[in-house]
Amino acid sequence: MYEIDRYVDVNARGTSLLLDMLAKKEAGSESVRRLVVASSRAIYGEGKYQGRDGFVYPCARALEDLQNGIFECRDPDSGDIATPVPTDESSRIHPSSIYGITKQVQEQLILTGGAALGIGAVALRYQNVYGPGQSLKNPYTGILSIFSTLLLQGKDVNIFEDGKESRDFVFIDDVVAATIAVIDSDVTGKAYNVGTGEATDVLTVAHSLKSNYGSGGEIKVSGNFRIGDIRHNIADLSSIKRDIGFVPKVSFAEGVKAFSQWVKTQEISDSGYERSVSELRAKGLLK
Ligand SMILES: NC(=O)c1ccc[n+]([C@@H]2O[C@H](COP(=O)([O-])OP(=O)(O)OC[C@H]3O[C@@H](n4cnc5c(N)ncnc54)[C@H](O)[C@@H]3O)[C@@H](O)[C@H]2O)c1
Repeated sequence: MYEIDRYVDVNARGTSLLLDMLAKKEAGSESVRRLVVASSRAIYGEGKYQGRDGFVYPCARALEDLQNGIFECRDPDSGDIATPVPTDESSRIHPSSIYGITKQVQEQLILTGGAALGIGAVALRYQNVYGPGQSLKNPYTGILSIFSTLLLQGKDVNIFEDGKESRDFVFIDDVVAATIAVIDSDVTGKAYNVGTGEATDVLTVAHSLKSNYGSGGEIKVSGNFRIGDIRHNIADLSSIKRDIGFVPKVSFAEGVKAFSQWVKTQEISDSGYERSVSELRAKGLLK
């Protein structure tokens, strides 16, 4: 939530510029036959949950709950703790971040603009993508980079909440395979989740990396939390499997091993993580 104007400018206005170029048939754009937007699970905000009387879509967790160490989401109707279930594409779209809002706008621009221009457009809602080649310097590229940098420097890892928060981590090769399959298909005007359909919690991520690196850094659960973070995420992959035949191949255990092997070949420098934590604290977004 820092560079709000820049997020909107790059993601929304940048996409509108692209559509304008296509509409004006600029720069050889007549040959464009497919548009695939790298959408995000961030557009779901907190995803789908089983509540007392059916499926629910919880909003931001209450500050009081988080301060009392109650990290799970509540059913907004009954107030009971709700159970996460795989989030499908028809789930409620209610992004909980500026980034998520810009991705929702970007997805709608591409799907609506593509239809108007007669260019087949598809949105792929990537889950948490990771793999060799990702930035190890940018603290916003995710916990695999952050934890790797800390552990390889022998530093401790501060795990937020209770470490049981989970994400659907999808290996880059699977993301590439899904994207190519969609480009090669003739499906149009649709949005698909791309993930593994499996939840991995943050403690598992940290311990897997620590063991792969043989690091002496300690994994410490702090109970700190960030305002606006979602608790869980699991993608429902039924649609992309049915329409495109895509099934992910790489388990988290395999993927994290390949990722760690690649990281070991890289020069490790400051990830900017400590700086990003200070910025969050200064803005009151980290408690
Ligand atoms: N990494 C994920 O887990 C994930 C999940 C869902 C969606 N996505 C989406 O996938 C896309 C790529 O994300 P990534 O994680 O690979 O990020 P990244 O930061 O590794 O790559 C982004 C790329 O965009 C380029 N870029 C940035 N600003 C630009 C600008 N103003 N003009 C032109 N190019 C610019 C950067 O140079 C970089 O090559 C993004 O649209 C992101 O929203 C990523």
